[in-house]
Amino acid sequence: MSLFNTNRICGLLGVKYPFIEGGMAWVGTPRLAAAVSEAGGLGTIGSGALTPEDLAESIDTTRRQTNKPFAVNVMLLNPSADRQVEVCLQKAIPVLIFGAGNPAKYLPDLKKRGIVTAAVVASETLALYLEERGIDVIIGEGMECGGHVGTVTTFTLIPALKDVLFSVPVVAAGGIADERGIKAAFCLGAEGVQIGTRLIATVECEAHDRYKQRIITSGIRDTLLTGQALGHPARVLKSAFAKRVCKLEASDPKEAESLITGSLRKAFEDGDEERGLFMAGQSAGLIQSIPSVSELFELWAQRLDGWNQIAGTETKIAENLKEGVYERSGNL
Ligand SMILES: Cc1cc2nc3c(=O)[nH]c(=O)nc-3n(C[C@H](O)[C@H](O)[C@H](O)COP(=O)(O)O)c2cc1C
Repeated sequence: MSLFNTNRICGLLGVKYPFIEGGMAWVGTPRLAAAVSEAGGLGTIGSGALTPEDLAESIDTTRRQTNKPFAVNVMLLNPSADRQVEVCLQKAIPVLIFGAGNPAKYLPDLKKRGIVTAAVVASETLALYLEERGIDVIIGEGMECGGHVGTVTTFTLIPALKDVLFSVPVVAAGGIADERGIKAAFCLGAEGVQIGTRLIATVECEAHDRYKQRIITSGIRDTLLTGQALGHPARVLKSAFAKRVCKLEASDPKEAESLITGSLRKAFEDGDEERGLFMAGQSAGLIQSIPSVSELFELWAQRLDGWNQIAGTETKIAENLKEGVYERSGNL
């Protein structure tokens, strides 16, 4: 029996491992998405910085590199989110992962077409609302993650989600960079993990080498939140530039906003320490190597081997919930 044979996320997504590449603007290129899918996880094209036309091209490029399933992450803050979804439909993308907002309006049509839908949430209220509207997967993202953050840690958010949700599977995101994090996530009730920062420091990630080096040399306290005073906090690696942006947020918010715009691209493409913001989570401090994605997943699978009891138990809990063996409450 394979490691995750009874895992609901693997069944839903058609993958070997319940490891999802977090949608990452700029970073989530076809090469990385294909590498994650080829290695047995679910690769994700990050469409946050793409035009609908670029997204269509990225989907085609990814398909040339893998015939395994992959997802598209639709950033709902992106003004062309509606058109991104249309492109995904035209291109028959099997899984859509929505970030930074409420995707409820898309769900009826996507469900009719048999597309698997997932939403990244930082709150139980939104998760419950979406479960009632038929979302297939809830991805709970804790504030130790890289990129835009909520206010609660993964360790607290996942059990809180499990307490309010009825049967939709929960995936944990934020702070997971090795098999210990994966085990912890499963112990909290997650049935899969979504990973961002760890995948930046891989061979197939096309980020500038300085970005990868910054991650593998950072400690767990080497991130800060930019954009907090502007209403869109994002976790990035500490740097003189990042600190300057934070200071400006109070004195000159307009200038701070203009420095933030385009700063991830500068980090990703040029490794620009002067004007780039290197989005990354606290788990950067747990990462010291730049393996290929398949080396990474194989290592995790090896270290998780013989440990699939929790996943099995989780499935039993879900079955019992359906049969009314447990009350729907926080007493699991
Ligand atoms: C560089 C970077 C860009 C990101 N861009 C997006 C995005 O466009 N859409 C989204 O839903 N999440 C985005 N995220 C969040 C990731 O999808 C993922 O949930 C998060 O990185 C998980 O936490 P971790 O970094 O601790 O692994 C981004 C994260 C990073 C590091």
